[in-house]
Amino acid sequence: MSMKTSHVVLFMFLLSLTGMISPVFAEDPYLYFTWNVTYGTMSPLGVPQQVILINGQFPGPNINSTTNNNIVLNLFNNLDEPFLLSWNGIQQRKNSWQDGLPGTNCPIPAGQNFTYHFQVKDQIGSFFYFPSLGMHKAAGAFGGLRVNSRLLIPVPFADPADDYTVLINDWYTKSHSNLARFLDRGRSINRPAGILINGKPGKDSQGHDQDPLFTMESGKTYRYRICNVGIKTSLNFRIQGHSMKLVEMEGSHTVQSMYDSFDVHVGQCFSVLVTADQTPGDYYMVASTRFTKYMLTGTGIIRYAGSNKPPSSPLPPAPVGWAWSFNQWRSLHWNLTASAARPNPQGSYHYGSIEITRTIKLVNSVGMVDGKRRYAINGVSHKDTVTPLKLLEYYRVTEKEFKYNVMQDVPPAGDAPINVQANVINATFRTFIEIILENPERSIQSYHLDGYSFFSVGMGAGKWSPESRKKYNLLDAVSRHTIQVYPKSWSAIMLTFDNAGMWNLRSNLLERHYLGQQLYISVMSPARSLRDEYNLPTNAMLCGAVSDLPLPKPYTI
Ligand SMILES: *[C@@H]1O[C@H](CO)[C@@H](O)[C@H](O)[C@H]1NC(C)=O
Ligand SMILES: *[C@@H]1O[C@H](CO)[C@@H](O)[C@H](O)[C@H]1NC(C)=O
Ligand SMILES: *[C@@H]1O[C@H](CO)[C@@H](O)[C@H](O)[C@H]1NC(C)=O
Ligand SMILES: *[C@@H]1O[C@H](CO)[C@@H](O)[C@H](O)[C@H]1NC(C)=O
Ligand SMILES: *[C@@H]1O[C@H](CO)[C@@H](O)[C@H](O)[C@H]1NC(C)=O
Repeated sequence: MSMKTSHVVLFMFLLSLTGMISPVFAEDPYLYFTWNVTYGTMSPLGVPQQVILINGQFPGPNINSTTNNNIVLNLFNNLDEPFLLSWNGIQQRKNSWQDGLPGTNCPIPAGQNFTYHFQVKDQIGSFFYFPSLGMHKAAGAFGGLRVNSRLLIPVPFADPADDYTVLINDWYTKSHSNLARFLDRGRSINRPAGILINGKPGKDSQGHDQDPLFTMESGKTYRYRICNVGIKTSLNFRIQGHSMKLVEMEGSHTVQSMYDSFDVHVGQCFSVLVTADQTPGDYYMVASTRFTKYMLTGTGIIRYAGSNKPPSSPLPPAPVGWAWSFNQWRSLHWNLTASAARPNPQGSYHYGSIEITRTIKLVNSVGMVDGKRRYAINGVSHKDTVTPLKLLEYYRVTEKEFKYNVMQDVPPAGDAPINVQANVINATFRTFIEIILENPERSIQSYHLDGYSFFSVGMGAGKWSPESRKKYNLLDAVSRHTIQVYPKSWSAIMLTFDNAGMWNLRSNLLERHYLGQQLYISVMSPARSLRDEYNLPTNAMLCGAVSDLPLPKPYTI
């Protein structure tokens, strides 16, 4: 089917060149999916436990798409509780209606279905989807989502022999509902029980290697897309005896450099090329915890086709220390001459010379509220509204459930008590904003922003100050959607808020996110025009305060 589609597209493109038809005719291809979400029992770490399956699979199926494809995905929720999926890194241009978070969508009730309809507009690269309600992500229902370049757009490396998705994550043997119960009672979920690679720990209960996850043919080069789909721990990824050439991360082609191992923080994705240039045999791929007092390791086997030589037993060691990881971040650069989703060089976009109109400094904190732990950003611990924020805004009834800008652009002074309520700030459409993420705690943070990619311009130890800007990378910082903040350190990002919608900024550490370390950024186009934002989809689920309200006047051209 994909071959056919690309031929049709090529044919239409050639027709359009001859002027026979206008290029706007061409509706982008559609990909259709029907997904059935159910509980299942699996024993990823040898202990039977409840997991969430998609079409019977754990992890869920991979979505293989191409830039600008339309994805129509009818999701049947056969759990006994509400469910939603979100699309990590997919920007949902003009379309936060499809973002699948409690602030944008009514949850799909048990026993019902909802059809997501979105376009992977102007994007390429490696992403994933995950379940966004409660602690569901600790139970599975995540999977890879790749966006290939269109046929006519050059990719800055030769076609690999194959393209593999590697989902790495920490794993708990307690069910998602038990983990949620712990947190609701003010307890912690503590440390994970193990590390999985594509749903498997690598060894069976007798300590024997499980079947190979991937096969390579001697001499050929393969693309591996590695995503940390876990809920708490940064993981170091490496392949015994093989170096990895980084080519893409979170939707941007990078300057291609070689690495022996890579730190992948929660929510991040990297693509590397690996050449099968060693003695034919089996080799371990390893994912192990970083920056933890404990050491947990997951493995998987890569087999050279036709080999029966077992892997050598010592696993390649993980790097040690923070400085190593920080230096690795510093080594990342955007390839300014490679094509992105369109054949325009990134270098034509000089983010370093755009005037910053607003600086938002966000400081994470933890504290007790009514005897229970809450996590906050600038003193506000987010609590979901009954009605999704986006719907309240569209129906112009926000005052029923939340107030904008309860949180300030700077953290409160001193020991202000944590304020638990919906945390929504607004940003002026199309302004260029600098966001400083400062982490005064002793553990690592990982933040994700929906709806955008941002330039990861700076990082440093201690507190950020305006002086810190002098060390920003204003030339070729990678454009991405997730960034780590080291302990007692800061990270700075910059972006233009040109995508109208309601967008979540969150700690990817699920325990923190669940207990309030997240906020929403409302970006409204004053024009209420379809050029800037789509209307509420006709199949949208309604709930809470807007269930029975008359439909507002739709946006028009
Ligand atoms: C993914 O889609 C591309 C483009 O249509 C196709 O060439 C490739 O074979 C597909 N890969 C898989 C694993 O289906
Ligand atoms: C989904 O799975 C459940 C349980 O296996 C089954 O009863 C149901 O018919 C399936 N629904 C669809 C739409 O496939
Ligand atoms: C639920 O599925 C049915 C048929 O499979 C489809 O016609 C309907 O549009 C879906 N509902 C929603 C809200 O997407
Ligand atoms: C950047 O992309 C260009 C264009 O595809 C490619 O020729 C070049 O090798 C890449 N540069 C690096 C350093 O990766
Ligand atoms: C942001 O919200 C405030 C308070 O509701 C409002 O006065 C202001 O106009 C909004 N700004 C934008 C850019 O939407």
